[in-house]
Amino acid sequence: MATRDPSGEGILSTTFDTAPNTAQIAVISDAARAAASVGLTFDRLTIEGGKPLEGTVDVRGAKNLVTKAMVASLLSEDVSVLRDVPDLSDVRVVRGLLEIHGVIVEEGAQPGELRLDTRNVRRAHVREIDAHAGSSRIPILFCGPLLHQLGEAFIPDLGGCRIGDRPIDFHLDALRKFGAIVEKLPAGIRLSAPNGLHGAHIHLPYPSVGATEQVLLTATRAEGTTELRNAAIEPEIMDLIAILQKMGAIISVEPNRVILIEGVKELRGYTHRAIFDRNEAASWASAALATRGNVFVKGAVQEHMMTFLNVFRKVGGEFDVLEDGIRFWHPGGALKPVVIETDVHPGFMTDWQQPLIVALTQADGVSTVHETVYENRFGFTDALLKMGADIRVHPRGFAAPNRRVPRRELEQAAVITGPTPLHGADIVVPDLRGGFSHLIAALTAEGQSTVRNVGIISRGYENFGDKLKALGARFSVEG
Ligand code: EPU
Repeated sequence: MATRDPSGEGILSTTFDTAPNTAQIAVISDAARAAASVGLTFDRLTIEGGKPLEGTVDVRGAKNLVTKAMVASLLSEDVSVLRDVPDLSDVRVVRGLLEIHGVIVEEGAQPGELRLDTRNVRRAHVREIDAHAGSSRIPILFCGPLLHQLGEAFIPDLGGCRIGDRPIDFHLDALRKFGAIVEKLPAGIRLSAPNGLHGAHIHLPYPSVGATEQVLLTATRAEGTTELRNAAIEPEIMDLIAILQKMGAIISVEPNRVILIEGVKELRGYTHRAIFDRNEAASWASAALATRGNVFVKGAVQEHMMTFLNVFRKVGGEFDVLEDGIRFWHPGGALKPVVIETDVHPGFMTDWQQPLIVALTQADGVSTVHETVYENRFGFTDALLKMGADIRVHPRGFAAPNRRVPRRELEQAAVITGPTPLHGADIVVPDLRGGFSHLIAALTAEGQSTVRNVGIISRGYENFGDKLKALGARFSVEG
């Protein structure tokens, strides 16, 4: 049973086998907040599985670019136009944060177009920032732009998906190198730059996506040149660089993960169509494979999914690259097991492993997935076990021959033995990508499943209920 929060904000409690602990309560309120922000009226899906997904889904701009592009607009005192913006709760969070800083955000003429007017950026109250940030980690990326515009920034305690500790030490170390003063306060972190920000030499300990974006957003208007080594080079980062270049930045991407940024005094607004969401595309592809279906992912681009496509093919999935998207399907017969390791680009993304693991429960043999990016990204497999999967998680991972990624302290491995028929169960979504995997598992399973806490999925999957309906999924919704 789910009960409503008297404030009307959303679901407060959901039945667990035992009373929910603090972490579960936090996840439930994140889900409720996320769902409410995009007008999602249900918290629970009752899914009748065992039917292949068939049809077309559209994917729009990548959550992991759009949110950063919105922050980048803050670097100018102008108007920017961003196209293909999906309606996601994470996008709403950034919109709220921009608005409390005086940015006028309006829907543009086309669907998915946002107009961001940053001509009157002002300080926001700490309490407002805290209230709008919710559990998102995005506020950390406001530091550079706000330091340039206002000379100070405040970052509340950061959340995001509970997929590990997710520290911000690389971000703070980089900001200090630019000349920022970082003060840790009980409510969060206050930054100031009394002497302005200056170009720096930064070598990241790991090619972190967020820290690379932090450096880009700070260096473009810092005085002098910044040399960033061991940078992340994900397609979403290249798209952010394209946006910054449109704004007037001078950034060159050199071989071996080196990025050089020559600071400029002023930037102007941009007009940009966001790169498509390759995480969403890979999720629907995995759903097609697990359910023995056939899904055309409109908007998917081969160039940015090559590593995923290779693995999809090795598992036995078929795909066809068309001009306006990629069709993914299960060709019949048995799927094959694979050994994969998650990695930074151009490796196999950590966000792809959760949806794909559901398909691997249906492969004929033993698959191994090494997670090398986050320390806690197999929590979602508990639900698959409940549904009949055979998955063993090795909390410290293990060495394997021919590893591309050097071993990291935090890594774990999941060993999946298939094929195991899945049966319906009552499961609770733990995080964004894990949540989508729960949907796939319920769609693959024979019988009825109840998937609770689905609000979290709206952080990264636009209109997933309507899309599931369009693919012929059988489900009903409950508040
Ligand atoms: N890390 C540190 N210190 C830092 C920053 C990162 O130790 O200061 C570590 C992290 O703990 C992690 C690793 O570095 O072990 C990689 O983190 P990274 O900074 O690359 O990730 P992120 O910027 O926090 C983004 C996406 C994630 C995606 C990762 C990897 C956004 C908003 N999030 O996170 O997306 O998994 O890059 O590609 O862009 C998702 O969409 O579900 C999601 C979690």
